[in-house]
Amino acid sequence: MTVDDDGTEAHEQEPHQIAALDARRRRCPVDHDEHLGWAVLGHAEVLRVVTDHETFSNRVSAHLTVPNGMDPPEHTPHRRVNERYFTPDRMATFEPRCRRIAAELVDALPRGADVEVMDGVARTYALRVQSAFMGWPESLHEPLREWTLANHRATLSRDREATTAVAVQFDGYIRALLDERRAAPAPRGRHTATDVTTELLAETVDGRPLTDEEIVSVVRNWTVGELSTIAASVGILLHLLASRPDEQRRLREDRALLPAAIDEMLRIHPPLLANRRRATRDVELGGQRVAAGDRVTVLWASADRDEAVFGDPDELRLDRDADDNLLYGAGIHVCPGAPLARLELRVLLEEVLDRTSDVTLAAGTAPEHASWPASGFSSVALRFT
Ligand code: HEM
Repeated sequence: MTVDDDGTEAHEQEPHQIAALDARRRRCPVDHDEHLGWAVLGHAEVLRVVTDHETFSNRVSAHLTVPNGMDPPEHTPHRRVNERYFTPDRMATFEPRCRRIAAELVDALPRGADVEVMDGVARTYALRVQSAFMGWPESLHEPLREWTLANHRATLSRDREATTAVAVQFDGYIRALLDERRAAPAPRGRHTATDVTTELLAETVDGRPLTDEEIVSVVRNWTVGELSTIAASVGILLHLLASRPDEQRRLREDRALLPAAIDEMLRIHPPLLANRRRATRDVELGGQRVAAGDRVTVLWASADRDEAVFGDPDELRLDRDADDNLLYGAGIHVCPGAPLARLELRVLLEEVLDRTSDVTLAAGTAPEHASWPASGFSSVALRFT
């Protein structure tokens, strides 16, 4: 997903924002408000926007955002660089490391007592796995965790100065990592490719090395944005397992169902609400006249629950057409990190199912839904036995 580094404005969509989006989509597949500009809610309309990148541009911010904020031809070579890091080989190599992190976290959970899973599992797992994938030292975990929380607080408070200050702080951490790796002695004048951050230093686009600013942007998109989406996904998946005991039993009996079940559970309760575009010409969309220059917001969290495609959006079905699920987007900006996200989420659920006999909702506490621009829960208590 993308990081809105010019700060998407926070605004509440209560009650539970997914239900509010359902109600809004049923009234109209495309409508307008001052926060989102054109809000694209219908599945067909979202697909139309994201597959027509000439009419709906990704250049929505003055800040450099690699590759999310780019259009072709600039986007194409940066996109190729991204894709190199999420190949099946790389995922297979990373899986054992990811599994060790998941197993340790699940083993450490208290049994038979209430656990607040956003703090207790979701955020820690996202942070530790992402750091491991990047090859970062443990010493960066705490600053990164604090940075993510500060960023979230700044976005919610709509404080642009604070948002910029935390962005600058994050960039400082990454630049320090790059300087460290440049300073390390490397054989025959080349960098030794020991971790992802070091490898990025050797990448080229159009025959030139990536600039530091570009590398920092790539890293920011692979970490900051992902930490919150992966953490939201973990909370949503564990909550769904606990709320649907029959499904949990089915998955305990047959782990081969997990990949399809995870994508379907995250279709029912999407972890990422929206991304932005800007119209490059006047165009008709869902019965509305969108003018050149207008802001457009594609609402994945609505499109993936559109009755016209999915019937009852809350019905968990494993025989749906996977191509209809817009969890990881569609078109040229479709999520390049999806293989890593899928690996992280499958491995965590496998370890939870292997190392516990039941996951249930904690009695007497209601989960707290996250507020825009986050999805999922800000807190949810479960019990592991
Ligand atoms: C459950 C977790 C995730 C979800 C639901 C998700 C979803 C998405 C979606 C819907 C898009 C398309 C955005 C658009 O069209 O504007 C996207 C793009 C992107 N995602 Fe993810 N993502 C996840 C995890 C990750 C991870 C783990 C990484 C990398 C470590 C990643 C990196 C990216 C990047 C770089 C883009 C921009 C691609 C481009 O512009 O070509 N994502 N993601």
